[in-house]
Amino acid sequence: MIVARRMTAFATPLRLDRESRIFMSSTLSVIILAAGKGTRMKSRLPKVLQPLAGRPLLAHVIAGAAALKPAQIVTVIGHGADDVRAAFADVAAKNPALSFALQMPQHGTGHATAVGLENVTDSSVVLIVTGDAPLVKTETLAKLVALVNDKTFALLTCNVADPTGYGRIVRNAAGDVVKIVEHKDALQAGDHATLAIHEMNTAIMAAPTAWLRGALKRLTPNNAQGELLLTDVIAMATVDGLRIATEQPTSETEIAGVNDKVQLAALECAFQHEQAVSLMQNGVTLADPHRIDVRGTLSCGSDVSIDVNCVFEGAVTLGDNVSIGANCVIKNATIAANAVIHPMCHIDGATVGEGALIGPFARLRPGSALAAEVHIGNFVEVKNSTLGKGSKANHLAYLGDAALGERVNIGAGTITANYDGANKHKTTIEDDVHIGSNCVLVAPLTIAAGGTVGGGSTLTKSTEPGALTVARTKAVSIANWKRPKKVAKP
Ligand code: UD1
Ligand code: CA
Repeated sequence: MIVARRMTAFATPLRLDRESRIFMSSTLSVIILAAGKGTRMKSRLPKVLQPLAGRPLLAHVIAGAAALKPAQIVTVIGHGADDVRAAFADVAAKNPALSFALQMPQHGTGHATAVGLENVTDSSVVLIVTGDAPLVKTETLAKLVALVNDKTFALLTCNVADPTGYGRIVRNAAGDVVKIVEHKDALQAGDHATLAIHEMNTAIMAAPTAWLRGALKRLTPNNAQGELLLTDVIAMATVDGLRIATEQPTSETEIAGVNDKVQLAALECAFQHEQAVSLMQNGVTLADPHRIDVRGTLSCGSDVSIDVNCVFEGAVTLGDNVSIGANCVIKNATIAANAVIHPMCHIDGATVGEGALIGPFARLRPGSALAAEVHIGNFVEVKNSTLGKGSKANHLAYLGDAALGERVNIGAGTITANYDGANKHKTTIEDDVHIGSNCVLVAPLTIAAGGTVGGGSTLTKSTEPGALTVARTKAVSIANWKRPKKVAKP
């Protein structure tokens, strides 16, 4: 019931035959295999926590599986289990379907699946995915699941140019899948015919749960790796009279497993390119699609343009006609229509108003809210501050814990001294205030509306509306001053 209804949400309607339709009315569970060591990563960080586009590999896999709305998602963990559990504590708290099963020690993918299945209580179809293949599309998984019924096992396979290391799909004369042979086993047996097969096992499959439970109990470690291999259930299925239906991914990127840093970088590159293409297809102008990194979600209005080497992290929204200069890093930010972000800006946790001009070399830190037409220039840092419409800090300034009204002008070198060494204090600068260059505004204080502060002033007290306040020593000028003359060294 659950699966069939939710599937209608996918863009491509899935064609299910009558039998599948009835079977699909039952529940789906997902097992994610993620207990392996990931030795080839040569890293202390468990493989499934290695980041792809700013998120752990496993986060991509869980999100892809969760989109199917299964009754349960059981992630089998082992190596670095505590770290993995800790990294996903928040996700698990939000998604009651997600649980972890501990596989210790690890006796292979078949053993891992059996451990996962012990935690599956509510399922007639089980989908198995691996924690190291992060980019498989939910639509592909849905298609695979739709093939399963009590007489059909579904396997995701892919024809690849170089199948080295992968399990090979062995078909009979009629073209039906009869078994999977692991690369190592074919090698050991000197089985060149099998090694020549380019159709590989993605290790992503879906099966009738009850049958799989029984089959896993029959696995033996009679193979080159001395492990219980999930791939061996395929031969069992054919012997038991199940049909092996196969499905293919839309691209190799979808099923590329990550085993080392070289593959991780290659997949990152491929994924970034896919995202860049999708942005361009939605009308975004990219100066160079190979020089943009999106580590999260980037939503763009119309006619947005992005120059080279920009990094977007978390959730970033760019309004219509926004222009982003080269070498900007923008994280969790909303930038309204017609704003221009000049090169070399760092923006984090900020909102930028319509038509604002930021940078070059500006830093907007969390809690900064800039209204329309604000100008923030070079070497200006803004933290936890609000700036009203049309306010400007064009050069070399620090605004921290400050509330600026509209049309305020902050001179070069001016700072809000918000921190007394123990606590932070607030600076309020009301509408139409003009602060000269090189001022220190020692918080807490308020510069009332329309006030002017003379350059070089250090203020520790609030000022009255409309007042000119100057706090600097008067200049002393001595006429005809003779500078000392340099004494010649003997
Ligand atoms: C596996 C497949 C191979 C397929 C390839 C696709 C098997 C036996 N082989 O090989 O046919 O072509 O994936 O990428 O399934 N894991 C556990 N517990 C274990 C062992 C592994 O949880 O005891 C997990 C790993 O963390 C990993 C996944 O299972 O996420 C696959 O294991 P891995 O060792 O990477 O298998 P491959 O050699 O890549
Ligand atoms: Ca692998």
